[in-house]
Parts: sequence; structure tokens; C-alpha cells
Amino acid sequence: MAASLLQRSLAAVWHPCTQMKAHEQIPLIPIARAEGPWLYTEDGRRLLDTISSWWVNLFGHCNPNINALLREQLERLEHVMLAGFTHGPVVELSERLAALTNHVLGHAFYASDGASATEIALKMSLHYWRNGGRLGKTRFLSLAGSYHGETVGALAVTDIPLFREAYAPLVRAAGTVPSPDIRLAAPGESAEAHALRAAAALEATLAEHHQEIAALIVEPLVQCAAGMAMYHPVYLQQARALCDRYEVHLIADEIAVGCGRTGNFFACEAAGIWPDFLCLSKGISGGYLPLSLVLSTDAIYQAFYADDTRRGFLHSHSYTGNPLACTAALATLDLFAQADVLSMNRERARWLAEAAMPIGEHSAIRHLRQQGMILAFDVEGVSADFARRCFARGLENGLLLRPIGNTVYWMPPYVLDETQSRWLGEQTFKTLHETLAE
Ligand SMILES: Cc1ncc(COP(=O)(O)O)c(C=O)c1O
Repeated sequence: MAASLLQRSLAAVWHPCTQMKAHEQIPLIPIARAEGPWLYTEDGRRLLDTISSWWVNLFGHCNPNINALLREQLERLEHVMLAGFTHGPVVELSERLAALTNHVLGHAFYASDGASATEIALKMSLHYWRNGGRLGKTRFLSLAGSYHGETVGALAVTDIPLFREAYAPLVRAAGTVPSPDIRLAAPGESAEAHALRAAAALEATLAEHHQEIAALIVEPLVQCAAGMAMYHPVYLQQARALCDRYEVHLIADEIAVGCGRTGNFFACEAAGIWPDFLCLSKGISGGYLPLSLVLSTDAIYQAFYADDTRRGFLHSHSYTGNPLACTAALATLDLFAQADVLSMNRERARWLAEAAMPIGEHSAIRHLRQQGMILAFDVEGVSADFARRCFARGLENGLLLRPIGNTVYWMPPYVLDETQSRWLGEQTFKTLHETLAE
């Protein structure tokens, strides 16, 4: 059964972010079902989903509360177009998200994937300036090593050559400014001092080019795809102040870091700031259905509100605001409200930190770091195929680990108990030891 699914998949499915030929060596893993933090393979193995299935799952797989609300919604309304129509789940979700931002970001625009949310924020920013007669503001800035998605528009602000190089003729690359990544701090320099140095570089760029720049886009606190590059929140405070001073929008891409991953519901809360645009996806639907959205301020919204159609935001996707996806998001927000998830996560984050302690003492480990429910470390002196080998060893030890280069990380769903966290630490240590000994 598993073998046949594997062969059929290789024949008919073009898998994402994959050189398909690599599957001649690395077998695909057919998954039969999932529950809580566990994935169950077709051949009867159990894997701990330490990365929340590409950072989407929040409350475990097949969560009974989310399942129940989805079943109810499925009997009422599966989908209706959102242009000219509306429905309960999309209205309630928009209101609840606005309330979570204290109504600073009170207007929600919907799409399906994260990259679409990035593109919406970029387009809205440029169009805002255009509506105000600022036709020269057409360029964007992102942090070195940034990742905001892989569609052509999003690639403009994704500073990862592997993803961008082949499509260079299609992409109008944004400018980049130095990353506040703590790993880049000079010897003896604190995370805060390093972030302030990166902010000074941002200021220099804005001072020179602000007339052409529409927005700065950042992944607040953690640049995940860059290898869980973490940075001090003072950078966000500085970025907010500089964007205000130079009349440049601040776009917070919280697609990966939102929904409690970094400790607060929104990562920007750690810095006490709000952006002009906030992008959410991944965890917002609990990891169930494709849903993304851009929250924006009233000032942005009002710049589009006019008699002239062309001043409006003429952007749409067929599944914009899908009722099932919105219901999954409402069920997710219910789970946040019912149990005090954020304070429970502080306890969970402590269990993860304790579980990682022995790993941190290993001589090959550098930069053991943590931001809320994201924990990462770098492995020094390894070959280019480390990530692939570590992944394969992880599977043998019951873990879905998917290192980025030489960075190993955990970003588990918010359901691990203390015993499971300890087991995760032990199995990761074993995996590391075996991979380094190969
Ligand atoms: C910060 C960030 N932005 C955007 C995206 C793109 O989201 P999607 O893969 O849903 O298009 C990702 C995906 O990993 C991400 O981490």
C-alpha cells in the first residue's frame, strides 16, 4: 500500500521545493493519518511533527474542536465569492482580529497563501502612495536573508538566491538592508547593540532613498527561512520610528511568526509597535486550510475609499475569505481564548529549553537560541548534505526534523507535554550524534 502510494505520487505529483530526482535516494513518506503532534506513516511508524508541518499547525493534527466547528460549517455554507457577498465567518474573523490589534489594524483583506498576502501588502502600499500623488514611491526594502514567499512579486522581497536566481529576468528585486540577526554580532557586541547598528544602516538607506521607497518589509523577531535568525525587538522599534520619519510603510510579515509562535499573539507586540500592514497565514487556520490575510490601518483603507473605481484595491482570488478556512481560524482563536495558551506556552517554551540543554553542551553546537516556541541551533563544520542526512536520521529516531542548511530547529505545535518535550530533546541529541558520526 505504502509502496504503491509512493510510486504513484512520484509519477503523478510534482512535489514542492524539491529536486524530484533526489527522491531516487530519499524516499517520499506516505502519511496515513495524524493526531496531536504525531504523524502516522502508511507503513505503521509514528513521527513527532517537530516543525508543525511547515510551521502551520498550532493545536495538533485533527484537533477535535476545530474538526467539530468545520463539520458544522460544512453543512451550512462551503463557499461563496466575497466580491459583492459576505458571510458570518469572514465578518466575525475580521472583527476578532481587529480587536486583537486594539483596532489599530481594523481592515482585513483575504487571500489563500502566504505569498499572496505579501503581494497584497506590497501592492496596497504602492497603490496608497499612488492615490496620494506620490508616483515615485515604487521600491521596497527587505532585510538581508529575508523570505516572504516565492511567487514572482514576493520573490522581489525574498533575498534567497537559491529561490530567486533562475527567475531574475521576471523579478524586480527590492533593496536589502543589513539583518539584525544576533549571530552576526561582533565579538562582545550585545544583541541590542547589534540591532541598533543594523537600524543605523537602515536609517542611512532611508535618508538617501526614501523618496522612491514605498515600504520596508520585515519578519518580526525571527527570520525563519534564513535559518531561524533571531533578533532584538529594539530593531522593530527603530524601524517603526524611521519609517514614520521618512514616510515609508512598515509591513510586518507575521505569516510564520504570528499566532503565538514567538510568545505574544503578534510578534510585533514584543516591541510595542504596530505596522501599517500585518500579513498572517499558516497558523491562523490552525494549520487546516489555506488562508492568508493582510490587516491594515484606517489611514490606508481611507486612501482607497473613493468614487473612482481605479482608486480602489482591485485585487482578488477566487477563494478569498473562504467560509471553511475562516471557520478553522475562528476555531483556532476560540482555542486561544478558552485555555490561556500564551501563558501555557511560556511553560512549554521552558520545557523545550530544558530539553535542549544537553544539545547546547555538544562541542559542534553554536548559537543555541530561542524565541518563544521556536528553538534553534547551528551545527559547525558539517558538509553540504548535513540537512538531508539529519532529516533521514531523524526519521529513524521518530522525528520529523527538517534542518535549514546547518540550522536544526524545533517549532512544534502547542500540545507537547513535558515528557514529550524531554523525548524530543533526547531523540534530537541521538539524531545529531549519529549524523555527525557518519
Ligand atoms: C515569513 C514568510 N512569509 C511568507 C511565506 C510564504 O507563505 P506560503 O508558503 O503560504 O506562500 C512564508 C512561508 O514559509 C514565510 O515563512
